[in-house]
Amino acid sequence: MDPFIQERRDIVRDIVREAGLLALDYFQRRHELVISLKGRQDWLTEADGAVETFLRQKIGQAFPNDQIVGEEQGGTGGDAMWIADPIDGTANFARGDRQWCVSLGFARHGVPEIGFIFAPAQDEFYEAVRGAGATMNDQPIRVAPTHDIRHAVIELGWSPRRPTGDYLALIGRTMEAGATVKRSASGALGMAHVANSRTDGYGEVHINSWDVLAGLVIAREAGALINDFCSGPWVTEGNPILCVTPGIAKDLEKVFEPRVELQT
Ligand code: IPD
Ligand code: CA
Repeated sequence: MDPFIQERRDIVRDIVREAGLLALDYFQRRHELVISLKGRQDWLTEADGAVETFLRQKIGQAFPNDQIVGEEQGGTGGDAMWIADPIDGTANFARGDRQWCVSLGFARHGVPEIGFIFAPAQDEFYEAVRGAGATMNDQPIRVAPTHDIRHAVIELGWSPRRPTGDYLALIGRTMEAGATVKRSASGALGMAHVANSRTDGYGEVHINSWDVLAGLVIAREAGALINDFCSGPWVTEGNPILCVTPGIAKDLEKVFEPRVELQT
């Protein structure tokens, strides 16, 4: 493994663990927290800001020349950049649902290289490095062997950033193709669950880089096919995402809009 990547993987893995435990501490006393809405169904808790600040401080100390982009405190990135979602699934977090995580990805020259997703309330830690495979709790993970879309479980994410009609139409087309559809309200864990075969695909008409950069590396290393998410102003503006196990990739690609091409 490239020593530049390996050093980051080894040091930042522990930082993500600590960040997850900090978030878990907030989760366990969430009734004391200030919880607000940034917009329609767009939740914010004190924990989001505190965990992002923690990640920025620790990564900044270890790798002062790396750029950091975060959901809460922004940033525009650079050649060596970390992209952080301090708490993905904030709505779940705020309501006491354990389906939330800390998500942190690293990209070099625009290429996703490292992904960490830690769901501390479920005791599940996912990680991957490009070319070196993906694990959950140190065990290798692979996408599901599903070949028939009529057996497939697809997660479709929703946010108020795009018209609700686009989301509903996508649900309709996916179900007409034969799959069942779910939504669990964490895009990062949605990608992780494709990687460990709990679902067969994750799609969303628009998602932000902090929601999916880590999941991109993890799902790809577990064998998923994914569209070219890292194109255009993806760091700050996001893109559509489609991530799917190869056996049903063509079927899902056909019904997904906006049109995307899965990369092999
Ligand atoms: C959201 C979640 C959701 C996804 C949205 C994200 P947040 O992030 O990942 O599942 O569908 O696109 O904005 O608000 O929980 O950090
Ligand atoms: Ca998020």
